[in-house]
Amino acid sequence: MKPEASPAAVVIRAEDLREFIRNVLTAAGVSPDKAALVADPLVASSLRGVDSHGVQLLPHYVGQIECGIVNPEAEGHVVKENGACLIYDAEHGFGQVTAPICCRHAVRLAARCGLSMVIAREANHFGAAAYWGQLISREGLIGIVMCDASMQVPPWQGREARLGTNPICVSVPHPQGQGWLLDMATTTAAYGKLEQALLRGEKTIPYGWAVDREGVPTTDLEQALKGLLMPLGGYKGTGLAMMVEILTGVLAGGPVYGTQVTGVRHRGRPMRCNHTFIAIDVSRFLPLEEFYRRMEAWIRDVKSAAPAKGYDEVLVAGEPERRAEEQRRRHGIPIMAGHWEPLVRLARRYGVPLPPVCHRHTQTAS
Ligand SMILES: NC(=O)c1ccc[n+]([C@@H]2O[C@H](COP(=O)([O-])OP(=O)(O)OC[C@H]3O[C@@H](n4cnc5c(N)ncnc54)[C@H](O)[C@@H]3O)[C@@H](O)[C@H]2O)c1
Repeated sequence: MKPEASPAAVVIRAEDLREFIRNVLTAAGVSPDKAALVADPLVASSLRGVDSHGVQLLPHYVGQIECGIVNPEAEGHVVKENGACLIYDAEHGFGQVTAPICCRHAVRLAARCGLSMVIAREANHFGAAAYWGQLISREGLIGIVMCDASMQVPPWQGREARLGTNPICVSVPHPQGQGWLLDMATTTAAYGKLEQALLRGEKTIPYGWAVDREGVPTTDLEQALKGLLMPLGGYKGTGLAMMVEILTGVLAGGPVYGTQVTGVRHRGRPMRCNHTFIAIDVSRFLPLEEFYRRMEAWIRDVKSAAPAKGYDEVLVAGEPERRAEEQRRRHGIPIMAGHWEPLVRLARRYGVPLPPVCHRHTQTAS
């Protein structure tokens, strides 16, 4: 896989990071059980190398608590259940608290109906969609998870934001939990990747990540930060982002799509985003064992393609993160200086001990 040149300030073991996150959240007033629910998915993302949605989100979540726009104790409630369809009101609780409840509803309804779709409205950020897709696929179901997000993306041929980075995740069951796992923003890159480039002191970003204020593609990071994120693959990305918004905010029926959804970095009002969880019971189509065999054979076939010049193998979705996880479980999670410093400030503010540091140096991660 391509090495991610990450100037890590520190390297921390996953269990120490998990405890640190729990301690900060409880010091900020979150009950221990809810703090644990938030900590796990953040550490899981950091472990998988998805640093844009790992521990670096903690200061943003604490900021949300401090200004009262997230309700840390809310668990939400079912608004309506009709056959395989369910609408949930997340009551501005942490996404990491309400998403597992919605996943359980999705699994329950799919067991009864073969397919299910649960939409949470009035929700807060749930981090990386992969964690929730995997929660469903571990039950032997295909998990499809989407959410809408604050406006950071122009529609293709536009230069004003009308869409979010609206991610799509599809997680496929596997006997050892190593199934095909697609988890992608509908922009070429998630916003956190621009932040990471800034923190690494980079001046340029790959072509196709962002547009400047005029809506023109730019590789200049400064212009990109003043501009907007680029829809994945041009107008096709706009189509996908709109599809996500239809299947989340529009269908949720609340007054909460497009312009009314804010981001995790915004203060002043709740995020009011929408999360969708779809579960498909594989065994209604074919025996699970046969599905596993067919997936394995098909992935082997895809990966058998001769690598293009400059590459030594073909990868499929989920593989890069699985490899990062193997490394990070063994050697710890590298945290770059720009993510570590806000955590140090948070620890001081709440009088929480910092996690033990395994290494303190510049390393190439995953
Ligand atoms: N909660 C939110 O509001 C929100 C919004 C946007 C994005 N996100 C999250 O941001 C995260 C990052 O999204 P992203 O689009 O930057 O991810 P990405 O571009 O790093 O990866 C997208 C997908 O491509 C696959 N992939 C990567 N390299 C590959 C290769 N060489 N060959 C084959 N497949 C490969 C990955 O396994 C992954 O499934 C996701 O976890 C997403 O859920 C969350």
